Amino acid sequence: MLRTVHVTAGAAVVCALLSGCGDDAVSTPSTDSPLYSGTASSALGSSTNTATCASCHSNDGTPRSGETLRNIAYHTAFKGGAAPTLLAATNACVTGWMGGTALTETDPRWLGVQTYLRSISSPEFTTPNTLAPEVLANEAAYETAYAGGDATLGAPLYARFCGTCHSVGTTVHNARALPRSNLRAFSVGRIAQQVRTSGPPPSGAMDATDSTPGPMPFFEPDELSQTDLRNIIAWVRSPM
Ligand code: HEC
Ligand code: HEC
Repeated sequence: MLRTVHVTAGAAVVCALLSGCGDDAVSTPSTDSPLYSGTASSALGSSTNTATCASCHSNDGTPRSGETLRNIAYHTAFKGGAAPTLLAATNACVTGWMGGTALTETDPRWLGVQTYLRSISSPEFTTPNTLAPEVLANEAAYETAYAGGDATLGAPLYARFCGTCHSVGTTVHNARALPRSNLRAFSVGRIAQQVRTSGPPPSGAMDATDSTPGPMPFFEPDELSQTDLRNIIAWVRSPM
Protein backbone atom coordinates (compact mmCIF):
# COMPACT_ATOMS: atom_id res chain seq x y z
CA MET A 1 0.00 0.00 0.00
CA LEU A 2 1.32 3.35 -0.99
CA ARG A 3 0.19 6.37 0.88
CA THR A 4 1.90 9.68 1.33
CA VAL A 5 0.60 11.62 4.26
CA HIS A 6 1.31 15.29 4.45
CA VAL A 7 0.90 15.99 8.11
CA THR A 8 -0.91 19.28 8.40
CA ALA A 9 -3.95 20.45 10.28
CA GLY A 10 -5.72 20.80 6.91
CA ALA A 11 -5.14 17.16 6.09
CA ALA A 12 -6.78 16.07 9.33
CA VAL A 13 -9.82 18.19 8.54
CA VAL A 14 -10.06 16.78 5.00
CA CYS A 15 -9.82 13.22 6.33
CA ALA A 16 -12.48 13.97 8.92
CA LEU A 17 -14.83 15.29 6.23
CA LEU A 18 -14.29 12.62 3.58
CA SER A 19 -15.86 9.24 4.06
CA GLY A 20 -13.53 6.38 3.23
CA CYS A 21 -10.43 8.40 4.02
CA GLY A 22 -7.84 5.95 5.28
CA ASP A 23 -9.15 2.62 4.00
CA ASP A 24 -8.35 2.75 0.30
CA ALA A 25 -6.23 0.08 -1.39
CA VAL A 26 -4.28 2.60 -3.44
CA SER A 27 -2.90 5.97 -2.59
CA THR A 28 -5.36 8.67 -1.65
CA PRO A 29 -4.53 12.35 -1.44
CA SER A 30 -4.51 13.28 2.20
CA THR A 31 -4.71 16.93 1.24
CA ASP A 32 -4.83 18.95 -1.96
CA SER A 33 -1.67 20.65 -3.12
CA PRO A 34 -2.03 24.37 -3.89
CA LEU A 35 -0.31 23.45 -7.16
CA TYR A 36 -3.30 21.19 -7.95
CA SER A 37 -6.26 23.27 -6.80
CA GLY A 38 -5.04 26.56 -5.36
CA THR A 39 -3.69 29.90 -6.55
CA ALA A 40 -0.24 28.35 -7.13
CA SER A 41 -1.96 26.18 -9.75
CA SER A 42 -3.89 28.94 -11.54
CA ALA A 43 -0.69 31.05 -11.49
CA LEU A 44 0.95 28.45 -13.78
CA GLY A 45 -1.30 29.96 -16.48
CA SER A 46 -1.61 33.47 -17.86
CA SER A 47 -2.17 36.48 -15.59
CA THR A 48 -5.95 36.33 -16.21
CA ASN A 49 -6.28 32.53 -15.81
CA THR A 50 -8.23 31.25 -12.77
CA ALA A 51 -8.48 27.61 -13.89
CA THR A 52 -6.50 25.05 -11.86
CA CYS A 53 -5.68 21.41 -12.59
CA ALA A 54 -8.75 20.63 -10.44
CA SER A 55 -11.08 22.54 -12.81
CA CYS A 56 -10.50 19.77 -15.33
CA HIS A 57 -8.99 16.77 -13.50
CA SER A 58 -10.16 15.01 -10.33
CA ASN A 59 -7.68 13.44 -7.90
CA ASP A 60 -10.08 10.70 -6.74
CA GLY A 61 -10.47 8.43 -9.77
CA THR A 62 -13.62 10.07 -11.18
CA PRO A 63 -13.66 11.69 -14.64
CA ARG A 64 -13.94 15.40 -15.39
CA SER A 65 -13.11 16.80 -18.85
CA GLY A 66 -9.61 15.38 -18.34
CA GLU A 67 -8.67 11.95 -17.03
CA THR A 68 -8.36 11.66 -13.27
CA LEU A 69 -4.84 12.44 -12.05
CA ARG A 70 -5.06 9.64 -9.51
CA ASN A 71 -2.63 6.86 -10.43
CA ILE A 72 -1.39 8.78 -13.48
CA ALA A 73 2.23 9.55 -12.56
CA TYR A 74 3.75 6.21 -13.65
CA HIS A 75 1.96 5.78 -16.99
CA THR A 76 4.36 5.04 -19.86
CA ALA A 77 2.83 7.66 -22.22
CA PHE A 78 0.22 10.42 -22.20
CA LYS A 79 -2.30 12.12 -24.49
CA GLY A 80 -2.65 9.15 -26.79
CA GLY A 81 1.12 9.06 -27.34
CA ALA A 82 1.43 12.77 -28.18
CA ALA A 83 3.14 13.46 -24.85
CA PRO A 84 5.95 11.05 -23.91
CA THR A 85 6.41 12.26 -20.34
CA LEU A 86 4.35 13.53 -17.42
CA LEU A 87 6.10 16.89 -17.78
CA ALA A 88 5.20 17.11 -21.49
CA ALA A 89 1.56 16.26 -20.72
CA THR A 90 1.40 18.84 -17.93
CA ASN A 91 3.00 21.45 -20.17
CA ALA A 92 0.42 20.78 -22.89
CA CYS A 93 -2.23 21.83 -20.35
CA VAL A 94 -0.24 24.72 -18.89
CA THR A 95 0.43 26.24 -22.32
CA GLY A 96 -2.58 24.97 -24.30
CA TRP A 97 -5.43 25.57 -21.85
CA MET A 98 -4.11 27.85 -19.14
CA GLY A 99 -2.09 30.20 -21.37
CA GLY A 100 1.10 29.84 -19.35
CA THR A 101 4.76 29.19 -20.14
CA ALA A 102 6.14 25.64 -20.28
CA LEU A 103 7.79 24.41 -17.08
CA THR A 104 11.32 23.00 -17.16
CA GLU A 105 12.54 19.84 -15.45
CA THR A 106 14.31 21.77 -12.70
CA ASP A 107 11.59 24.37 -12.04
CA PRO A 108 10.56 24.07 -8.35
CA ARG A 109 6.91 24.45 -9.42
CA TRP A 110 7.23 21.41 -11.70
CA LEU A 111 9.01 19.44 -8.96
CA GLY A 112 6.08 20.33 -6.67
CA VAL A 113 3.50 19.17 -9.23
CA GLN A 114 5.47 15.95 -9.81
CA THR A 115 5.75 15.22 -6.09
CA TYR A 116 2.02 15.74 -5.66
CA LEU A 117 1.07 13.55 -8.66
CA ARG A 118 3.37 10.78 -7.40
CA SER A 119 1.81 11.05 -3.94
CA ILE A 120 -1.61 10.14 -5.39
CA SER A 121 -0.26 7.44 -7.75
CA SER A 122 0.76 3.81 -7.29
CA PRO A 123 3.65 2.59 -9.53
CA GLU A 124 1.68 -0.51 -10.54
CA PHE A 125 -0.53 1.62 -12.85
CA THR A 126 1.51 2.06 -16.04
CA THR A 127 -0.99 1.56 -18.91
CA PRO A 128 -1.65 4.80 -20.82
CA ASN A 129 -5.19 6.17 -21.05
CA THR A 130 -6.85 6.18 -24.43
CA LEU A 131 -7.51 9.48 -26.19
CA ALA A 132 -10.65 9.23 -28.33
CA PRO A 133 -12.70 12.41 -28.78
CA GLU A 134 -16.09 12.03 -30.46
CA VAL A 135 -15.76 14.02 -33.70
CA LEU A 136 -18.94 13.99 -35.83
CA ALA A 137 -19.25 15.46 -39.33
CA ASN A 138 -20.85 18.78 -38.37
CA GLU A 139 -23.18 20.61 -36.00
CA ALA A 140 -26.26 19.00 -37.59
CA ALA A 141 -24.90 15.54 -36.80
CA TYR A 142 -24.48 16.52 -33.14
CA GLU A 143 -28.04 17.95 -33.15
CA THR A 144 -29.39 14.54 -34.24
CA ALA A 145 -27.25 12.59 -31.79
CA TYR A 146 -28.05 14.71 -28.74
CA ALA A 147 -31.71 15.75 -29.06
CA GLY A 148 -34.35 14.56 -26.60
CA GLY A 149 -32.63 14.44 -23.21
CA ASP A 150 -34.18 14.57 -19.71
CA ALA A 151 -33.55 17.91 -17.98
CA THR A 152 -34.30 16.59 -14.48
CA LEU A 153 -31.64 13.91 -14.82
CA GLY A 154 -29.27 16.47 -16.36
CA ALA A 155 -29.33 19.01 -13.53
CA PRO A 156 -26.99 17.21 -11.09
CA LEU A 157 -24.75 16.11 -13.98
CA TYR A 158 -24.41 19.73 -15.12
CA ALA A 159 -23.40 20.72 -11.59
CA ARG A 160 -20.76 18.00 -11.52
CA PHE A 161 -19.25 18.23 -15.02
CA CYS A 162 -19.85 21.83 -16.08
CA GLY A 163 -20.37 23.67 -12.81
CA THR A 164 -16.67 23.55 -11.83
CA CYS A 165 -16.31 26.38 -14.37
CA HIS A 166 -19.76 27.63 -15.47
CA SER A 167 -21.24 28.02 -11.97
CA VAL A 168 -18.23 29.83 -10.52
CA GLY A 169 -17.17 32.01 -13.47
CA THR A 170 -13.79 30.37 -14.04
CA THR A 171 -11.56 32.11 -16.56
CA VAL A 172 -9.58 29.60 -18.63
CA HIS A 173 -6.58 31.58 -19.91
CA ASN A 174 -8.51 34.65 -21.16
CA ALA A 175 -12.08 33.41 -21.63
CA ARG A 176 -14.69 33.34 -18.90
CA ALA A 177 -17.14 30.45 -18.46
CA LEU A 178 -20.58 32.09 -18.52
CA PRO A 179 -23.55 30.96 -16.39
CA ARG A 180 -26.38 28.76 -17.69
CA SER A 181 -28.53 31.83 -18.35
CA ASN A 182 -26.07 32.70 -21.14
CA LEU A 183 -25.79 29.14 -22.50
CA ARG A 184 -29.53 28.45 -22.78
CA ALA A 185 -29.94 30.04 -26.23
CA PHE A 186 -27.45 27.75 -28.00
CA SER A 187 -28.84 24.90 -30.11
CA VAL A 188 -28.49 21.27 -29.02
CA GLY A 189 -25.98 20.67 -31.83
CA ARG A 190 -23.86 23.68 -30.93
CA ILE A 191 -23.66 22.73 -27.24
CA ALA A 192 -22.83 19.10 -28.05
CA GLN A 193 -20.14 20.07 -30.56
CA GLN A 194 -18.64 22.50 -28.05
CA VAL A 195 -18.49 19.85 -25.33
CA ARG A 196 -17.06 17.16 -27.64
CA THR A 197 -14.46 19.11 -29.62
CA SER A 198 -13.70 22.38 -27.82
CA GLY A 199 -10.10 23.29 -27.34
CA PRO A 200 -6.97 24.90 -28.73
CA PRO A 201 -3.89 23.02 -29.89
CA PRO A 202 -2.39 20.90 -28.43
CA SER A 203 -5.65 19.35 -27.29
CA GLY A 204 -5.60 16.78 -30.10
CA ALA A 205 -9.16 17.65 -31.09
CA MET A 206 -8.43 20.37 -33.63
CA ASP A 207 -9.25 20.02 -37.29
CA ALA A 208 -10.03 22.36 -40.18
CA THR A 209 -13.79 22.14 -39.69
CA ASP A 210 -13.70 22.71 -35.95
CA SER A 211 -15.91 25.67 -35.05
CA THR A 212 -15.18 25.39 -31.33
CA PRO A 213 -11.57 26.52 -30.89
CA GLY A 214 -11.94 28.28 -27.50
CA PRO A 215 -10.12 27.33 -24.28
CA MET A 216 -12.95 25.21 -22.85
CA PRO A 217 -11.69 21.59 -22.62
CA PHE A 218 -13.38 18.78 -24.56
CA PHE A 219 -15.06 15.77 -22.92
CA GLU A 220 -14.51 12.28 -24.38
CA PRO A 221 -17.34 9.72 -24.28
CA ASP A 222 -15.43 7.62 -21.72
CA GLU A 223 -15.51 10.62 -19.39
CA LEU A 224 -19.06 11.79 -20.16
CA SER A 225 -21.42 9.30 -21.85
CA GLN A 226 -23.76 10.21 -24.70
CA THR A 227 -26.78 9.67 -22.46
CA ASP A 228 -25.41 11.91 -19.71
CA LEU A 229 -24.48 14.67 -22.18
CA ARG A 230 -27.92 14.46 -23.82
CA ASN A 231 -29.52 15.00 -20.40
CA ILE A 232 -27.11 17.83 -19.52
CA ILE A 233 -28.03 19.64 -22.75
CA ALA A 234 -31.74 19.30 -21.98
CA TRP A 235 -31.06 20.90 -18.59
CA VAL A 236 -28.92 23.71 -20.06
CA ARG A 237 -31.75 24.64 -22.44
CA SER A 238 -34.60 24.30 -19.93
CA PRO A 239 -36.49 27.37 -18.60
CA MET A 240 -34.86 29.20 -15.67
C1 HEC B 1 -8.93 23.61 -18.89
C2 HEC B 1 -8.80 22.23 -18.56
C3 HEC B 1 -7.48 21.66 -18.13
C4 HEC B 1 -6.59 22.18 -17.21
C5 HEC B 1 -6.69 23.49 -16.45
C6 HEC B 1 -5.55 21.19 -17.05
N1 HEC B 1 -5.79 20.12 -17.87
FE1 HEC B 1 -4.65 18.46 -18.07
N2 HEC B 1 -5.84 17.80 -19.60
C7 HEC B 1 -7.02 18.40 -20.01
C8 HEC B 1 -7.59 17.64 -21.11
C9 HEC B 1 -8.91 17.94 -21.81
C10 HEC B 1 -6.66 16.59 -21.37
C11 HEC B 1 -6.72 15.59 -22.55
C12 HEC B 1 -7.06 14.27 -22.38
C13 HEC B 1 -7.72 13.80 -21.12
O1 HEC B 1 -7.04 13.73 -20.07
O2 HEC B 1 -8.90 13.47 -21.18
C14 HEC B 1 -5.58 16.72 -20.39
C15 HEC B 1 -4.51 15.85 -20.25
C16 HEC B 1 -3.62 15.83 -19.18
C17 HEC B 1 -2.68 14.78 -18.91
C18 HEC B 1 -2.52 13.52 -19.73
C19 HEC B 1 -3.60 12.53 -19.37
C20 HEC B 1 -3.43 11.22 -20.09
O3 HEC B 1 -3.63 10.18 -19.45
O4 HEC B 1 -3.12 11.20 -21.28
C21 HEC B 1 -2.01 15.12 -17.75
C22 HEC B 1 -0.92 14.33 -17.05
C23 HEC B 1 -2.52 16.39 -17.32
N3 HEC B 1 -3.51 16.78 -18.20
C24 HEC B 1 -2.08 17.07 -16.20
C25 HEC B 1 -2.52 18.35 -15.85
C26 HEC B 1 -1.98 19.12 -14.74
C27 HEC B 1 -0.90 18.64 -13.79
C28 HEC B 1 -2.64 20.32 -14.73
C29 HEC B 1 -2.43 21.50 -13.83
C30 HEC B 1 -1.09 22.07 -13.81
C31 HEC B 1 -3.61 20.29 -15.84
N4 HEC B 1 -3.50 19.09 -16.48
C32 HEC B 1 -4.48 21.31 -16.17
C33 HEC B 1 -7.57 19.52 -19.47
C34 HEC B 1 -6.95 20.37 -18.55
C1 HEC C 1 -12.65 23.98 -17.33
C2 HEC C 1 -13.75 24.90 -17.42
C3 HEC C 1 -14.99 24.51 -18.19
C4 HEC C 1 -15.75 23.37 -18.06
C5 HEC C 1 -15.54 22.20 -17.10
C6 HEC C 1 -16.85 23.51 -18.99
N1 HEC C 1 -16.75 24.68 -19.68
FE1 HEC C 1 -18.03 25.38 -21.13
N2 HEC C 1 -16.84 27.01 -21.42
C7 HEC C 1 -15.70 27.31 -20.69
C8 HEC C 1 -15.12 28.53 -21.19
C9 HEC C 1 -13.86 29.20 -20.66
C10 HEC C 1 -15.94 28.97 -22.25
C11 HEC C 1 -15.79 30.22 -23.14
C12 HEC C 1 -14.69 30.04 -24.16
C13 HEC C 1 -14.92 28.95 -25.14
O1 HEC C 1 -15.89 29.00 -25.91
O2 HEC C 1 -14.13 27.98 -25.15
C14 HEC C 1 -17.01 27.99 -22.37
C15 HEC C 1 -18.04 28.04 -23.31
C16 HEC C 1 -19.13 27.19 -23.35
C17 HEC C 1 -20.24 27.32 -24.28
C18 HEC C 1 -20.42 28.45 -25.30
C19 HEC C 1 -19.94 28.02 -26.66
C20 HEC C 1 -19.93 29.14 -27.68
O3 HEC C 1 -20.13 28.83 -28.85
O4 HEC C 1 -19.72 30.31 -27.31
C21 HEC C 1 -21.10 26.31 -24.01
C22 HEC C 1 -22.44 26.03 -24.71
C23 HEC C 1 -20.52 25.52 -22.93
N3 HEC C 1 -19.33 26.10 -22.56
C24 HEC C 1 -21.09 24.40 -22.36
C25 HEC C 1 -20.48 23.59 -21.39
C26 HEC C 1 -21.06 22.36 -20.88
C27 HEC C 1 -22.42 21.83 -21.27
C28 HEC C 1 -20.15 21.84 -20.00
C29 HEC C 1 -20.22 20.55 -19.23
C30 HEC C 1 -20.46 19.35 -19.99
C31 HEC C 1 -19.00 22.75 -19.95
N4 HEC C 1 -19.26 23.78 -20.80
C32 HEC C 1 -17.86 22.57 -19.15
C33 HEC C 1 -15.17 26.57 -19.66
C34 HEC C 1 -15.62 25.33 -19.21
